[in-house]
Amino acid sequence: VMRIGILTSGGDAPGLNAVIRGAVLKGDKEYGQQFVGFKAGWRGVVEEELVPLGRHEVKGISKQGGTILGTSRTNPFEGRGGVDRISEVLERNEIDSIIAIGGEGTLAAAKRLSDEGLPIVGVPKTIDNDISATDYTFGFDTAVQIATDAMDRLRTTGDSHQRCMIAEVMGRHVGWIALHSGMAAGAHAILIPEQKTSMEEILGWVTSANDRGRAPLIVVSEGFALDTMDDTHHERGLDAFGRPRLGGIGEHLAPMIEEATGIETRATTLGHIQRGGTPSSYDRVLATRLGMAVLDLARDKRWGQMVALRGTDIVDVPFEDALGKLKTVPQERYDEASLLFG
Ligand code: F6P
Repeated sequence: VMRIGILTSGGDAPGLNAVIRGAVLKGDKEYGQQFVGFKAGWRGVVEEELVPLGRHEVKGISKQGGTILGTSRTNPFEGRGGVDRISEVLERNEIDSIIAIGGEGTLAAAKRLSDEGLPIVGVPKTIDNDISATDYTFGFDTAVQIATDAMDRLRTTGDSHQRCMIAEVMGRHVGWIALHSGMAAGAHAILIPEQKTSMEEILGWVTSANDRGRAPLIVVSEGFALDTMDDTHHERGLDAFGRPRLGGIGEHLAPMIEEATGIETRATTLGHIQRGGTPSSYDRVLATRLGMAVLDLARDKRWGQMVALRGTDIVDVPFEDALGKLKTVPQERYDEASLLFG
């Protein structure tokens, strides 16, 4: 009987539990496999913290946010970790393979471990939707829906006061959440890390919406930078003038817009609300399918591979296809959205 260990690592994403459930149910029903969970990502492997994972443990969990296994950003090569330690833990617990569910960092570690001969397969995960080699990641749809709902709410209060409202959404490196939620909510400007934008352009969109009697609504990714900011501004926590910045980019933009236009401006940072709570049905289905599909990789001992979504199909790709470069928002998608700005 094959015994498989599952771990969830990195920031959580709605749908993680659906992956776990999909894998355990299919493995149990179809292949008679057994499962264990590692607590809190790679930490559970390195520290040998295992929890039972069977049909009972996964009952009804696909609708729950977060991850029943817990997560961490532990690097399996640091501290007591490393290939020898992990092989020893697998051997002692009679585990034949690891399913690693995680983002770029997790998949990079998984690749390194599988290059060194460990039996690992993977499932890509991020609400940011920035992993290459997969069209969409679970968690993204839920985050976009939460951000859209928030903007719909910001709009009615903004309209009542004729204020400019700024919603800052997640996305350290890419603007997928901002692009999709901004388009869905009909934002007057979408500001994303891939597109450095000038204050003049932003003010143009704000005043044109305001002139038509609309309360300007702006969505900005947390990783956005004005064209006057260089790449080190964010890392060093500086504002566009090189001064220490308190709060996120949304809070930084608000007074600049207010000062330049005279329109009262408020910023709201959605933060981790975007990662919490129940996954959308789309994310549950995607996550469940990925969980079921990754088992076939384990059964066939196709180590170093992960599952991915291509179109509407679940396919498998080597870890390296997902690594090295992020999936950014293409210029055409931004240009298309920007036709509706202002
Ligand atoms: O990568 C997912 C993500 O939610 C990013 O959008 C965000 O920048 C980051 O994680 C937040 O990380 P943490 O939960 O560690 O604060």
